[in-house]
Amino acid sequence: MSLFPGEHLDVLITQDQIRLKVQQLGVKIRADYGEKEIILVAVLKGSYLFVADLARELGLNVKIEFCQVSSYNEGKSSTGVVQIRKDLDINIEGRDVLIIEDIVDTGLTLKFLKEMFEVRRPSSVKVCTLLSKPEARTHDSLVDYVGFEIPNEFVVGYGLDYGERFRTLPYIAILRDSS
Ligand code: IMP
Ligand code: MG
Repeated sequence: MSLFPGEHLDVLITQDQIRLKVQQLGVKIRADYGEKEIILVAVLKGSYLFVADLARELGLNVKIEFCQVSSYNEGKSSTGVVQIRKDLDINIEGRDVLIIEDIVDTGLTLKFLKEMFEVRRPSSVKVCTLLSKPEARTHDSLVDYVGFEIPNEFVVGYGLDYGERFRTLPYIAILRDSS
């Protein structure tokens, strides 16, 4: 693990806690949707591990799609502007869409995505996020499934990055910088 001078990681959520939570979310989501097909729309890149694990809990009746937006760029705070970088490849009209996010921070990204998808007249649009920072919320957007509510700290691991680093950590850690 390469840390720069002054950086250190404090484990916030362990690998076992993540595994258990993903199983629980899978059970709950499957119970809510029944046998219906769910279109999982993973928001790249941060949710790539979460969607891989969650999709396997949900069984066969899912499709996986990807989109990518930019709001954070490389740093630790949002730019306040959301842009679509990669749109969906499929028509979602009449489909049940479940947006899969790594983390909901201000809520800006989610608000943008929900509004963009809703005009395409899907049968439903819901949101599942692994992490949520309620204290950082400035844009109210309803999240239907939340793995963990966390304090307003910058976290990395299990898909989440800081300047493209730390995505492959198997747990979630707070990234602190004392320098
Ligand atoms: P938003 O502020 O809710 O729009 O969040 C925008 C995006 O910023 C999220 O989807 C994440 O990709 C990223 N982000 C927010 N907080 C963190 C964090 O603590 N660590 C890593 N990425 C974050
Ligand atoms: Mg994200």
